[in-house]
Amino acid sequence: MKTIAHLNHIRKTYGTGEAVLSVLNDFSMEIAEGDFVAIQGRSGSGKTTLLNIIGLLDSDFSGDYELFSYRENGMVVPRNLRDSALSLLRNEMIGFVFQHFNLLEHMTCFENVCLPASFCGHDVDLKQIEAKAYDLMKRLDVADKRDALPSQLSGGQKQRVAIARALLLSPKLILCDEPTGALDVETSRSIMACFRELCRRENMAFVIVTHDQGVADACDRIIKMEAGRIAQQ
Ligand SMILES: Nc1ncnc2c1ncn2[C@@H]1O[C@H](COP(=O)(O)OP(=O)(O)OP(=O)(O)O)[C@@H](O)[C@H]1O
Ligand SMILES: [Mg+2]
Repeated sequence: MKTIAHLNHIRKTYGTGEAVLSVLNDFSMEIAEGDFVAIQGRSGSGKTTLLNIIGLLDSDFSGDYELFSYRENGMVVPRNLRDSALSLLRNEMIGFVFQHFNLLEHMTCFENVCLPASFCGHDVDLKQIEAKAYDLMKRLDVADKRDALPSQLSGGQKQRVAIARALLLSPKLILCDEPTGALDVETSRSIMACFRELCRRENMAFVIVTHDQGVADACDRIIKMEAGRIAQQ
């Protein structure tokens, strides 16, 4: 399988001087197309920090990070890109799913799903995007919530709307930070089944930070973080 992300000897610190906190300490990993990986580790072990780096939200680290670009048909070094190129790469490659869904409360579910298109940086065909958004909502079984506000949905429904939003631009790598942390066991299972289906059918890679052993066990690989490194794989 093609490697789509390569992290090599990543070091990340917060603060300076005596207050310096070393969070990622010579951390290396590869992510390939179709990977379905769980990341575990105690609170404060650097999981969200790692996702932010992989997701191109944080470029303040040392070490090498390369991400595949289908547009460029090769590995690129995000650090070398200008902001506009970085946004294009993020839109092309990355989708985020968070524990608390992060839906905008004043927008309808449909508007939330369409939102990534407005940050796209290049011309998008609005009709096509809207058709895709609706199709994703149907696939995730929330099409009937199209005009509802997020506050009118259950937790599982909100998460499915958030997943539809994450998938709108067909990213190749989905980064999930405790995606089932606010959901009951049954709903968690259905969200994981949905991820698995997308992974199988579209060869998307999933990196799922989770404290839930059931979720981790449903992944193909578990990375345990300890002191900023991989403790066990
Ligand atoms: N912006 C920041 N400034 C300073 N320190 C930070 C910042 N963000 C995170 N940290 C610190 O870095 C460490 C790792 O944080 P991170 O959020 O990556 O942990 P985590 O593994 O995601 O934890 P949790 O399971 O609780 O979400 C923690 O000690 C945290 O306090
Ligand atoms: Mg975290």
